Amino acid sequence: MNNQNGHHSWPEKVGIIDVEIYFPSFYVDQNELENHDNVSKGKYTIGLGQSKMGFCSDREDINSLCLTVVEQLMQKRGLSYSQIGRLEVGTETIIDKSKSVKTVLMELFKESGNHDVEGVDSTNACYGGTAALFNSVAWVESSAWDGRYALVVAGDIAVYAEGNARPTGGAGAIAMLIGPNAPIVLERGLRSTYMEHVYDFYKPNLMSEYPTVDGKLSVQSYAKALDKCYDGFCRKAEKLHKTKGKKCFTLKDLDAMLFHTPYCKLVQKSLGRLAFNDFLRNSGSELEDQYRGLEMYRDLKLEDTYFNKEVEKAFVDHSRTMFEKMTKPSLLIAKEVGNMYTPSLYACLVSYIASQSIEALQGIRVGMFSYGSGLAATLFSLRFSDDISKGSPLRALHDSLQSIKHRLASRMEVSPKRFTEILKLRDNTHHQAPYTPIGKIEDLFPNTWYLEHVDEKHRRSYLQKKETPCIQRNGCITKMNVMNCESTKVAEDFCKVSATPIRLSESVQPV
Ligand SMILES: CC(C)(COP(=O)(O)OP(=O)(O)OC[C@H]1O[C@@H](n2cnc3c(N)ncnc32)[C@H](O)[C@@H]1OP(=O)(O)O)[C@@H](O)C(=O)NCCC(=O)NCCS
Repeated sequence: MNNQNGHHSWPEKVGIIDVEIYFPSFYVDQNELENHDNVSKGKYTIGLGQSKMGFCSDREDINSLCLTVVEQLMQKRGLSYSQIGRLEVGTETIIDKSKSVKTVLMELFKESGNHDVEGVDSTNACYGGTAALFNSVAWVESSAWDGRYALVVAGDIAVYAEGNARPTGGAGAIAMLIGPNAPIVLERGLRSTYMEHVYDFYKPNLMSEYPTVDGKLSVQSYAKALDKCYDGFCRKAEKLHKTKGKKCFTLKDLDAMLFHTPYCKLVQKSLGRLAFNDFLRNSGSELEDQYRGLEMYRDLKLEDTYFNKEVEKAFVDHSRTMFEKMTKPSLLIAKEVGNMYTPSLYACLVSYIASQSIEALQGIRVGMFSYGSGLAATLFSLRFSDDISKGSPLRALHDSLQSIKHRLASRMEVSPKRFTEILKLRDNTHHQAPYTPIGKIEDLFPNTWYLEHVDEKHRRSYLQKKETPCIQRNGCITKMNVMNCESTKVAEDFCKVSATPIRLSESVQPV
């Protein structure tokens, strides 16, 4: 069979070749926020499982976040923009009802002369990134593929009105390079989707950044979608792999299980919920002895237990060892940055890769649960490459993500009072035109794109904070590039870097 590119077969092993993440340079501490919000001590840190929350000043919007992360990925890979044939953005941070973020990103492609780039934006709450990923993988696997890479971008600014949802905010963006012979492959024929019409979280007020949230319904909807997707996934896996007399698919068939993460506590409960699903699905099987002491829950129905605290606790306890191994390493960024919405699940993937030794990643199989309110959800799985040799794509990806902890530590802490003022400013000036942001440029990470101005016709212009290559510190030269930041204190102590801006149209290097 010939595809359009003249190849004799369809591409194999289509998946994620590389990933880059961007999170803002500011955070508020959740301990401090508990004091400020006058809630009981431990509500945000223990009850929700969050330690810090990233946020943006009025200098950043969805376009600037995506510009930053796309450029970071392209530079890291040393890729030419002409090597990209598809670019899709998943986001629910809508600043224009017509113009896509994707079209703004095309400015980065200008100097390469490449305008032949398919794809626009996908929106459904936190699910848009997954839709963009599936579309891009499908493009590479299709007759329309022209042999080039696809880029998937997921980005959001998650901010809530004052009240109980505010500590579950966050912000950030992910860019993923998609192509054949990838070190992380989406397993074919093995994903399960659940969609339903629910008003659990939505954004009907287009003049505000804030959603309308029914928190309890959103937690219930997440659990229901997880149950439904897992059931469908298990059935498909059992059909595909009916081998060696083993009938039931369980969590033990996965090496890691990652979740869309609105807050970390929900994820630990969700792994417990999958263990409860396994327990109910494995009734009477040879696996029964694994569930000693849980027999009294045998006749329960999933749909009657969304808020059953006793069942929740029993299965969180039962799955604790699995959680430590399969899921906890994926929560590094979620705990420190918060809910990024569309990038959340992929930030978990980045965290998981960054937290493991390369040997621990060899050939593993990872479950991925994507959830977007409203609702759209899918459970799918990834296979990591067996090749971890020197210079292998998986090792290169793993090594490139080792700076994450430094990058998190080099952020700037902002008091809850200042955080509240900044969110108030964003709220008051959202959709204002003309408008010139007032947030300090020197507080941004080097190389960050930022909003320069919104003109009277709502047209936005962007600049890039130029990297200062080196600074002198105690006689040592330290590169002031957050990707290679050697000292965790560098950005805090020495972030007096040049703010010499680069205009959007001046920024692209000839290839
Ligand atoms: C998630 C959300 C509903 C929680 O708000 P809330 O109702 O005020 O929070 P709760 O009173 O239930 O407290 C949260 C948890 O902290 C616990 N908690 C409260 N105070 C505590 C304290 N001092 N120490 C320890 N834990 C505490 C509660 O017991 C609760 O635990 P549980 O979930 O195991 O019952 C809210 O933040 C929200 O709407 N977020 C946005 C929507 C969202 O993220 N949905 C998730 C699915 S998409």
